Amino acid sequence: MWGGRFAEGPGAIMREINASIPFDKALWRQDIAASKAHAAMLGACGIVSAEDAKAIERGLDTIATEYEADGVPEDWSLEDIHMTTESRLAALIGPAAGRLHTARSRNDQVATDFRLWVRDAIDQADAGLKALQRALVMRADEHAASIMPGFTHLQTAQPVTLGHHLMAYYEMIRRDRSRFADARGRLNECPLGSAALAGTGFPIDREMTAQALGFRRPTANSLDSVSDRDFALDYLTAAAQCSLHLSRLAEEFVIWASQPFGFVRMPDSLSTGSSIMPQKKNPDAAELVRGHSGRIVGAAVSLMVTMKGLPLAYSKDMQDDKPPVFEAAALLGLSIAAMAGMVEGATFRTDRMRQAAELGYATATDLADWLVREAGVPFREAHHITGAAVKLAESRGVALEALSLADLQAIDGRIGEGVYRALSVEASVAARASHGGTAPDEVRARIAEAREALGMGG
Ligand code: ARG
Repeated sequence: MWGGRFAEGPGAIMREINASIPFDKALWRQDIAASKAHAAMLGACGIVSAEDAKAIERGLDTIATEYEADGVPEDWSLEDIHMTTESRLAALIGPAAGRLHTARSRNDQVATDFRLWVRDAIDQADAGLKALQRALVMRADEHAASIMPGFTHLQTAQPVTLGHHLMAYYEMIRRDRSRFADARGRLNECPLGSAALAGTGFPIDREMTAQALGFRRPTANSLDSVSDRDFALDYLTAAAQCSLHLSRLAEEFVIWASQPFGFVRMPDSLSTGSSIMPQKKNPDAAELVRGHSGRIVGAAVSLMVTMKGLPLAYSKDMQDDKPPVFEAAALLGLSIAAMAGMVEGATFRTDRMRQAAELGYATATDLADWLVREAGVPFREAHHITGAAVKLAESRGVALEALSLADLQAIDGRIGEGVYRALSVEASVAARASHGGTAPDEVRARIAEAREALGMGG
């Protein structure tokens, strides 16, 4: 394709290091779509004849059918998907194929293809995340009043509801979707027609190709267009942050599924057994989601480091932009699907959760709050009195509300009978009705908003 000024072809190492076809063949659909848009524009603008433009478009359709049926052939001497397709086009339609590359370069071509690919990846991530949100909302609704211990430092802190806990992840995913939507908005400008770096002297119509490919408008600066990979980084950083959320949720499942916790029975479909210990049911899918987040974050870092220090415009380093994005997209898709399946299929052991909340002195703050509210005790002092009550209950191995009124009054005479109503885990969660709090009615109000936002109906 470029042999004119060379006396010899590339050596074996050059061919191997140069070849991106092993991975960029994943762009074939985008490459064909962009080439068809370009050919139609060249025809419409009279830069190539209408017959040639038609022949090119038909040839590209044939190639698409071939790729679909047999895959993309990998010939390293053709370097990449762009040359592979162009050479096949030449074989199919003859010299007219050589007109397709008028007013275009592989630099704007790959930038366009890759943007189209990332745009699809964003749409796929969004659809998967929406399904995960729906699953979270369904299970949260079911468990809006199911009591579990809430933790800080992974120590029992205050009772919360499982619905509240699940809706926390709904919020994280909501922000992830908004990051992906942002990325999509910025990405959606078309670099095609920027040519190698400086634009072209041919009278092309960039609005036409931009529109044909579903972009909002053509990009504004040809140098930037062929050397910008912010759109891929926007995607990767959004994916990385999303993967952190998936990993945290996965970690909750790993902890909850452990025998000492016993808060959840994992769906069989997302667990594995041990080849030596027959009793084992391992949360491998959750652990792999946790693991995959490391690779997704690594992909974001990888592309950042690739781009750092590249002068304008295109440099071949940028060919290395694709593997991290492809890897991250595959891992993210799997991770989202695994977590949606886990949320949908988990059996929550609400009996165990409730028991853990009751045994963990989770309502100690409620005793302190009662002293503040009913007996006018300053909070710091109430905190101290409550600490003494917890110490006594702990020394006897009982729950707070199992202490007699006489026991409590021996610690502080201002404690009255009414305190028992505040000490139950139900009373504790019901009391936390501040906006965004864990009170079941409050959780249900947030669930109703989420259902609305997801178009789930009442
Ligand atoms: N395979 C190349 C890439 O992915 C296409 C662009 C080649 N451009 C060039 N000037 N050699 O980046």
